[in-house]
Order: sequence, then structure tokens, then C-alpha cells
Amino acid sequence: MSIDFEQLRADALEAVSAAGDSEALQALRVRYLGRKSPLKSALRGLSDLPAEERARVGRLTNEIKNDIEQAVAGRSEALEREHESELGGREWSDLTLPARRGRRGHRHPITLVEQDLDNLFRGMGYRVVEGPWVEDEWHNFDALNIPKWHPSRDSFDTLWLSDGNLMRPHTSPVQIRAMKRFGAPLRAVFPGRVFRNETLDATHEAAFNQIEGLVVDREITPGHLFHSVKAILSAILEEDVETRFRPSYFPFTEPSFECDIMRNGDWMELCGMGMVHPTVLEAGGLDAQEWTGFAFGLGIDRLAMMRYGIDDIRWFHRGDLRFLEQF
Ligand code: DAH
Repeated sequence: MSIDFEQLRADALEAVSAAGDSEALQALRVRYLGRKSPLKSALRGLSDLPAEERARVGRLTNEIKNDIEQAVAGRSEALEREHESELGGREWSDLTLPARRGRRGHRHPITLVEQDLDNLFRGMGYRVVEGPWVEDEWHNFDALNIPKWHPSRDSFDTLWLSDGNLMRPHTSPVQIRAMKRFGAPLRAVFPGRVFRNETLDATHEAAFNQIEGLVVDREITPGHLFHSVKAILSAILEEDVETRFRPSYFPFTEPSFECDIMRNGDWMELCGMGMVHPTVLEAGGLDAQEWTGFAFGLGIDRLAMMRYGIDDIRWFHRGDLRFLEQF
């Protein structure tokens, strides 16, 4: 029996320390320490050796066996640690980091513009009042000096409901509700959604948004109106806008005007307005001999389109994230 014990020890220790995973290590354990390993056969053959040889080989074999067992145990631990730190690298959480924010939504461009308008008007002493989307015929038409036979009724493309009510085609009926509720003097704006049976195109939607203004006090004149509208539009568009007031017609105002603003060398129609018709003041429960007022109405969608450079009003309701995420 001629085993080179030192060579065996060196080979075994080297192989064990290089074992790449626990399976390889297990195979080495079998090879060097298992029943058929050279060490085990050496131990089995001890009894055949002369006594003095037997002691020496016995000691040496045991020593090598212990060395290899230790090396295997050490390597096994090292592999375990490697595995853990690899897992840890993936699952590590640094508790000192600030909490990650959840994915939050954000406001729609129409809402952004409407909120700016609300704040602007509040700063000028207006109260912000909302009215119902489903309106009755009286508030929407009769109280605004548009009786049943009046031709301008047709111009609103009203969506009627089967119960005789309607989806409001403008925010003007809120004028009546506000006068009844708050009396005079009054300074208020009424933002909100309006509905029309429109043929849709780049500038027409079946649902869009207006903001209506109403000021009631003693001895209000068109001068107050012109100045206020110019100041308001300048504030909204953040520049000293050039305005043009043209005579126009609305049943609920007398006289009535249309305000255009200068945009890129062109006049652009933006806002209807006028001095509140005495019939409308009376419908709001006010004495038209004592009170006077002005009113105006403008489209929020159009303002938002101007502010953000949006070329088609239909983007607002498409729900397309590529559009919405830009705001
Ligand atoms: N209600 C009108 C519309 O929707 C806009 C309007 C015009 C409102 C003149 C007013 C006003 O308050 O005085 O077309």
C-alpha cells in the first residue's frame, strides 16, 4: 500500500477550497472522505501493517481526515455566506433613505386654469359659486330674458332631458341663483362645465367649461365692465393684453358687447358681456331701479388652449396619457 499522503492532503485541500457550490463540495466530500476514498481504505488496511507503521499511518491518516473535514466545513460556511450576501445585495433596504413617493396623479389642465381663475377672482373680492349641471328651463332661459318664443333659444343647442330639465348650455343661469341667494351688492364668478349638442371639431366639444362673472352694485357703468374685463384677461394671460370691445347681442344684457383680444396679429373673440338686463335683475329678486350690474362669460377651455398651446379642444377629454402627462 503506497499512498502519497501528503500529495493526497494537498490535492484535497486545494479542490475543497476551489469548490464553487455546495454540490461540488458534496462530491469532494464523498471522493476524499467517503467509504471508497483512499483514506478510508488506508484506515481499513491498518491492521495489516506492522505495529510501528500502523501507529504512524494511523496518526497521519486521521490528521489528514480531520484537515479535510475542517476544510469542507469551512468551505461550506463560506459558500453559505456568499449565497446570503448575494441575496442581501438584492434585498438590501437602506432604512436611512427618505421614503419613496407613491405614483401620484396630478391636475387636469382645465382644472389648473380654473383654479388660477378662482384665485385671481377671489383676490379681487369675487366669491366663487358653482351651480347645477342639470338646470331647469326657467333658470336657463326665462329668467335670463329668453322666453319660449325667443329665437336665441335655438342658438344654444340645448340637450334636453326627458323630465323637461336640461343640461345647462351656459353658466349664466347661476347668475340668477346667486342673486337670489346672496342679494346685492354682489361680486361673484361661476365656473363650471356646460353641455351642448355640438358637431365636434377642433374648437367644439359637447362638454366644455365656462366661467361667468357677475357684479351688482349701485351705479355700475360700462366703464367698470371694460376696465374689469381688460384687467382680468391681462392677469390670466400674464401680459398687458390689447382688447377690443364690439357691440353685440345677448338677451340677458343691454347693452351687450363682445371682447376680442390681440393674438399674434389677429383679433380673437374671447368673451361675451354686457350690462345686466333689468328683467334679469328682477328675476334674481333685485329692484332694477336701485341696482345695476355687469356680467361676462368666457370659455375656460379656450384659455387653457391659449396658455398651453393646445391645437384641438378634443384632447381634453380623450384621456390620452401622452397628452395628460405633460401638465
Ligand atoms: N352665456 C353666454 C354664452 O354662453 C356668454 C355670456 C355672454 C355670458 C354675455 C354673459 C354675458 O354673462 O353677459 O354664450
